[in-house]
Amino acid sequence: MLQNVITVLNTHANCLTNMKNFLIYFITISIFAIACNNNSTMHNTADTTVKTDSSIDTSLIPLPKNFQTTIDGKQTNLYILKNGKMQVSVTNYGARIVSIIVPDKNGNPTDVAVGYDAVEPYTKGGDTYFGAIVGRYGNRIAKGKFTLNSKQYTLATNNGPNSLHGGTKGFSRKVWDAQQISDSSVMLSYISGDGEEGYPGTLNVQVTYTVASNNKLKIDYAATTDKPTVLNLTNHCYFNLNGQGSGTINKHLVMINADKYTPVDSTLIPTGKFESVKATPFDFTKPSTIAAHVNDSTNQQIKFGKGYDHNFVLNTKGDPSVKAAEVIGDASGIVMNVYTTQPGLQFYGGNFMDGSHTIKQNKKDNYRTAFCMETQHYPDSPNQHNFPSTELKPGQQFASTTIYAFSVK
Ligand code: GAL
Repeated sequence: MLQNVITVLNTHANCLTNMKNFLIYFITISIFAIACNNNSTMHNTADTTVKTDSSIDTSLIPLPKNFQTTIDGKQTNLYILKNGKMQVSVTNYGARIVSIIVPDKNGNPTDVAVGYDAVEPYTKGGDTYFGAIVGRYGNRIAKGKFTLNSKQYTLATNNGPNSLHGGTKGFSRKVWDAQQISDSSVMLSYISGDGEEGYPGTLNVQVTYTVASNNKLKIDYAATTDKPTVLNLTNHCYFNLNGQGSGTINKHLVMINADKYTPVDSTLIPTGKFESVKATPFDFTKPSTIAAHVNDSTNQQIKFGKGYDHNFVLNTKGDPSVKAAEVIGDASGIVMNVYTTQPGLQFYGGNFMDGSHTIKQNKKDNYRTAFCMETQHYPDSPNQHNFPSTELKPGQQFASTTIYAFSVK
């Protein structure tokens, strides 16, 4: 009996100690939260600490009011993401990156992404896909046709005989729903209806842009479908690491971690072969300038691409901790490292840029003044059965991540 009374008293004492510990923990957390809230230049988010550097030249950032309008009955806007010395702006029209500002080797803020300073030019004809998320199938599908589970699907042919970047009105021309999650992150969502642009299944897709610490831009893709479909999502940002509109990218130094690439026919559809880059203009396993072989007219692949416009088979095998590519701006010293979970990288050297568009800071999109590093599956995968599959089935959760990490040399 006495033993039972002692046990009950001990239990009460333990409860009181636990409650006291909980109260101390609760008060400490509350004080910490209030302190963080009161400090407007710093707060914690799920995966990153946001510090905004007051020395950033905000005049490089386009004005949000130039992006605020209604398109297809939906509100468009500009979302500004900040972390330390890096700032990125994104519009929900096409889920596009509009600007990426990072310091150069002298600490000067430099906008390395080609874009417009208002939403209106993005909506005009002849899409260049500046900064856009392209889909449902980024890159080309031969003759705009593919067969899935014995059924043939027909897409718009908007690039010679082929379908390119999702068709006539792909994801680059849709108004996405946007939710700014924090100072450094925005999530964009889009529901692509069953049959939209000829693709089967209702696709629910999210793209989250996060400016992480150490000047990194992380892009997370997620998607689900209610019927089997094909999917190849990528970002089509045009980079010039010396600053957008500052001249050609010919002297940029490029490294691509790929021993093989997928050669193409004259319409840029892969032949289905994996060819070694050794002793070809496609050997970027050691850093090389773009200029070194971009005009090598003795190489048929360079002729077909009008320069570089090819898919590289990454050695990284979907491991985002291994570098997929590195590019260095010769004048700025800005380095961009690319990491991705995707198996391929389309290196496009701006061969179709022709100076016909006025980009930010009143510059022109002149020939080869920017390049794209589009992390993705190989082109025309739905018709190429030796390529990794791009099919997404109901019940599966598609997820992929790409990081563009900036530094200086
Ligand atoms: C690239 C494609 C190029 C060109 C460009 C847009 O992704 O590989 O051939 O179409 O987009 O001008």
